[in-house]
Amino acid sequence: MIVPVILAGGAGTRLWPLSRDARPKQFLPLTGERTLLAETARRVAGVENAAVPLVVGREAHRFLIAEQLRQAGTPGMVMLEPAGRNTAPAAAAAAIEALAAHGPDSQLLILPSDHVMADADAFTAAVAIASEAAASGYLTTFGVTPTSPETGYGYIRRGDSLLGGVARVAAFVEKPDRATATAYLDSGDYLWNSGMFLFPAQAYLDALAVHAPDLLESARAAHAGAERDRDFLRLDDDAFAACRSESIDYAVMEKTEHAAVVALDAGWSDLGSWGSVAEAAGVDADHNYCHGDVLLTDTHDCVVHSDGRLVTTLGLHNTLVVATDDAVLVADRDREQDIKAVVARLRDDN
Ligand code: GDD
Ligand code: MG
Repeated sequence: MIVPVILAGGAGTRLWPLSRDARPKQFLPLTGERTLLAETARRVAGVENAAVPLVVGREAHRFLIAEQLRQAGTPGMVMLEPAGRNTAPAAAAAAIEALAAHGPDSQLLILPSDHVMADADAFTAAVAIASEAAASGYLTTFGVTPTSPETGYGYIRRGDSLLGGVARVAAFVEKPDRATATAYLDSGDYLWNSGMFLFPAQAYLDALAVHAPDLLESARAAHAGAERDRDFLRLDDDAFAACRSESIDYAVMEKTEHAAVVALDAGWSDLGSWGSVAEAAGVDADHNYCHGDVLLTDTHDCVVHSDGRLVTTLGLHNTLVVATDDAVLVADRDREQDIKAVVARLRDDN
């Protein structure tokens, strides 16, 4: 049985000031009418042999999550974290829950809640292939052919071929620097890690026991002390808060020798930066992405997003302008990965 686990606890800081603590990007309709979380839940509904999905998110967002699942018309269990500890602990608690609810052969289909995919059928076909690899014990990830030297992604070097369309992972490098990413792109030997995984639930816990035993122990304690309240499963506050913050990529994927990769060609995009939002939504003849009440003159290669007021630009290029009710960001587009640092400064000042 495949247990979909939708990760919805991220802060989405690289899309600040549109994405905020109270409503991070997964809860926003960034590229269409539905929110990214609702789109993810609907995509999961097409996966064969799947259980009701488990959405893992923050306590503070419980009503947003429940309401968006309702609007998507899809069922879901919601596992609540008192605070974010990145993806490895969330997936660990989900693996423990999946094994308890669905038995020892449970597979976890880990899905970020903030991606877009043009071709849902290609996604479900790739999941079916990955499920076979996972049944042979592989920690399987979905790899996307890279098109630019993105530094916000993990990179996978393909190893020996296994069964149809699956290869062993020869190397996994999370978020390399620009020069390394460029070398990987030029080599043609690497795929982007899409951040989606299909693991035998037990194999993931076994990998944590080897590579991050403290984290596994905290997740076990948080799950053992969890409270159930209708569709909510509330992890134990103290045990979870004591857990180290770590991503699946650093905790397990860079270290395990049991990783495999399935190619995914589904028009995938992580809306991780303003550049990727522009790419997914499409740009005009001047390579500008515009949203809302904006007027651009002699402007090219810009992202201009307004959530209300009129925004005008003149003679601008390669610049990001995002205006919301209470905050405006003006940035060099080459620095879009550093928006995180601006948000960190704001948090420090408050
Ligand atoms: N429940 C929960 N708790 N979810 C979280 C937490 C948390 O503490 N932190 C992040 N998430 C969710 C985010 O909402 C997102 O949907 C997903 O987990 C991935 O987290 P990101 O923070 O977006 O990761 P990333 O984009 O930097 O990197 C990952 O994705 C890339 C592709 O999009 C990695 O897997 C990279 O290797 C990969 O290339
Ligand atoms: Mg992301």
